[in-house]
Amino acid sequence: MDAHPLRLKVQSVAAETPFIRSLVFGVDGGSVPEWQAGAHIRVSLPSGGDRPYSLMALPDLPEGTLALGVLREQQSTGGSQFMHALKVGDVVTATGPVNNFGLHEDRSPALLFAGGIGITPILSMAAKLKAQGIPYRVHYAGRTEGLLAFLPQLQTICAESLSVHYDSDDSRLDIAAALGDAPAGAHVYACGPAGMIDAVKAAALARGIPADRIHYELFKAEQPSSPDKPFEVELKSTGQVVTVAAGQSIIQALEAAGLDVLYDCQRGDCGICQCGVIEGVPDHRDVILSDDEKASNKVMQICVSRAKSERLVLDL
Ligand code: FES
Repeated sequence: MDAHPLRLKVQSVAAETPFIRSLVFGVDGGSVPEWQAGAHIRVSLPSGGDRPYSLMALPDLPEGTLALGVLREQQSTGGSQFMHALKVGDVVTATGPVNNFGLHEDRSPALLFAGGIGITPILSMAAKLKAQGIPYRVHYAGRTEGLLAFLPQLQTICAESLSVHYDSDDSRLDIAAALGDAPAGAHVYACGPAGMIDAVKAAALARGIPADRIHYELFKAEQPSSPDKPFEVELKSTGQVVTVAAGQSIIQALEAAGLDVLYDCQRGDCGICQCGVIEGVPDHRDVILSDDEKASNKVMQICVSRAKSERLVLDL
C-alpha cells in the first residue's frame, strides 16, 4: 500500500511571520479526507523520509482544501527548507490524517497551551471547542511580538478566550497561574517545545489534575543528521534478513516483507514499537528513550531509529 496516498497541490502560500508560512493545498484527483482537530499528515520529502505537520482549521479556509503551518528551522535538514520553497501549483505527496492528539469527547472544559509553532493543532482544537460550545482558554506563548503566527485567525476564533504571552515582557506565561484558573474537571492540552510541555505537565500534576487529563504533543525541531543509508535487519526468531532502504523506516521495510509490526505514533514518542536489540548499533532518533537507555543500545524505536552498523539483529 502507498504510504503517501494523498497528492496535494499548493493553492496558496502566505508568510505569517518572517519564519512561518501557511500553505493551503487542494487534493489532486480526490477529495479532502475527513480529519479531526489535533490530526497531522506526513509530507514526503524529495530527499527521502517525511515530516509531520498538523492540519489547521483556519477560519477562512476555502472548501475542499487543507492548510498547514510550517516553521523554517535554522538547522533544517531539508524538510522545512523544502516546504518553504513550495510555490502555487507544486504537488507533494502525503499520508492520510493521523490523530494522536485528539480532543476528549466528554465535553469537559479545556485549557490549551501552545508554544511557537505548536499553535497549529491548538488552533484547530480551539475552533472545534468553540463550535461545540465547550468552555476553553488558549494560552499562546512566544519569544517576542511579531514572531507569533496566526494571531489574527486565533483572535477571530477565540476572541476573549485567547491569552497571548511574550517571554520578552510582563505578559510572560505563568503556567501555575494559568492552571490556577482551570475549571474543575478540565482537560489540559499542550503543544510546543519539550521544556514547555514538561513545565505544563509538572504544574498540572502539582495542581492535582490527573495524568489522564493532561495531553500533549511534542513539537521537536528537526535535528541535523547524516543522510540515511540502507542497512539490514535480522529477525532473531527466524533468522530472516530484511534490507531497510534509505528513506524507508524499519517498520516500512518489515511490513513490505509481509511481517506484522506493532506501532502507533511513528514519530518516536509513544514507545509502542520499542524493540530489543541483540546485536548491532542503533542510530537512535526517538524522543522517548533516556540518554542512558540510548547509550546501552539494548532497545530502540523501530519507527524512526536506524542503524550505525551494517546489520541489526532485533528481538523479533
Ligand atoms: S510508533 Fe511510537 S515510538 Fe514508534
